[in-house]
Amino acid sequence: MRLLVTGGAGFIGANFVKQTIADRPGVTVTVLDALTYAGNRASLEPLADRIDFVHGDIADLDLVDELVSGVDAVVHFAAESHNDNSLAEPWPFVQTNIVGTYSLLQAVRRHDVRYHHVSTDEVYGDLGPGDRAFTERTPYNPSSPYSSTKAASDLLVRAWTRSFGVRATLSNCSNNYGPYQHVEKFIPRQITNLIDGVRPRLYGAGHQVRDWIHVDDHNRAVWDILERGRIGQTYLIGADGELDNKSVVRMILEAFDRDPDDFDHVTDRPGHDQRYAIDATLLRTELGWTPRYGDFRAGLAATVQWYRDNESWWRPYKAITERAYVAAGEQTLGGASA
Ligand code: NAD
Ligand code: DAU
Repeated sequence: MRLLVTGGAGFIGANFVKQTIADRPGVTVTVLDALTYAGNRASLEPLADRIDFVHGDIADLDLVDELVSGVDAVVHFAAESHNDNSLAEPWPFVQTNIVGTYSLLQAVRRHDVRYHHVSTDEVYGDLGPGDRAFTERTPYNPSSPYSSTKAASDLLVRAWTRSFGVRATLSNCSNNYGPYQHVEKFIPRQITNLIDGVRPRLYGAGHQVRDWIHVDDHNRAVWDILERGRIGQTYLIGADGELDNKSVVRMILEAFDRDPDDFDHVTDRPGHDQRYAIDATLLRTELGWTPRYGDFRAGLAATVQWYRDNESWWRPYKAITERAYVAAGEQTLGGASA
């Protein structure tokens, strides 16, 4: 199989490419990535002679058409992915997440190429504490510029499938953790803060709940769907990993042998989604997928170790990321008891 992976220099895409090269010798991989602030060529460095890398934009219709004409399938990860950035400046989210997806859909339509669309549980909005987890039938109700543009891209895929017969599947996954995640995101930000001797920073009271899944479990599900998923079907991906943010910060501090209350509360995110939770019954029963990383604390410890061992990978991004948080108005509200 000849595979085009968009966003392969980003967090999940790079892990997907690594897993694919390791497990599937019959697959050839071309990565298309614009190398935005979130793309890191170093993530693919160990595979440089095993893949083709194209530096380009998914919204470039001619480039995308040419690349898609030479493959059997596309797995589309490329996106603007960070909620905080979407609140500061929404336009790149509209351009990449909506127009970029349009560009890919037109190309797979023209060349009748199999397409898998990687999306997020955030398209469903958020849940209250006692609400049932999201399923494939939950109505869309996105909250942020990020999640609304991902929702729009999902709807384009559904329309292109129904109206033009595009052979597409979709997946909506919960929060990923693992190696190669940008230091702007919650878990790597706190780990790298602690390596630098800075206290973790918890938005608001930290009662928001996220449903954590290891990135390798997400990517194995993507392969299951690509190979055996039903055309036109959406599959939710999640590993029953619900935890509130405060508990995660405390676990990270414990992994550093630090007092679990040694963190700061900072300004909350506007419109902050309260809770995400995934019911992955369809994926488990129809495709037989199960997560391999059942123990979040162990997965987190391995992730902490990865950031300790790979400082040269994240160091160039750390100071600029923290400056952006300050510029966006983040303020310290006080310590754990605040
Ligand atoms: P990321 O921000 O780490 O990586 C995004 C990649 O896309 C980067 O390499 C970037 O350079 C590239 N890119 C951005 N704009 C581009 C453009 N116009 N053309 C080509 N490349 C471009 O993101 P991630 O966390 O790896 O997320 C990957 C996908 O998974 C996204 O679609 C995201 O919505 C989805 N997702 C993420 C999570 C999560 O927890 N991170 C969970 C569920 C779904
Ligand atoms: O649910 C899937 C989504 O998960 C993906 O679609 C997104 O691409 C991905 O970024 C992630 O979105 P979140 O907004 O949930 O992730 P983030 O890492 O930004 O934040 C996780 C939680 O931690 C959230 O409730 C906000 C909080 N937070 C975040 C940061 C960066 C903090 O408390 N402190 C922080 O410093």
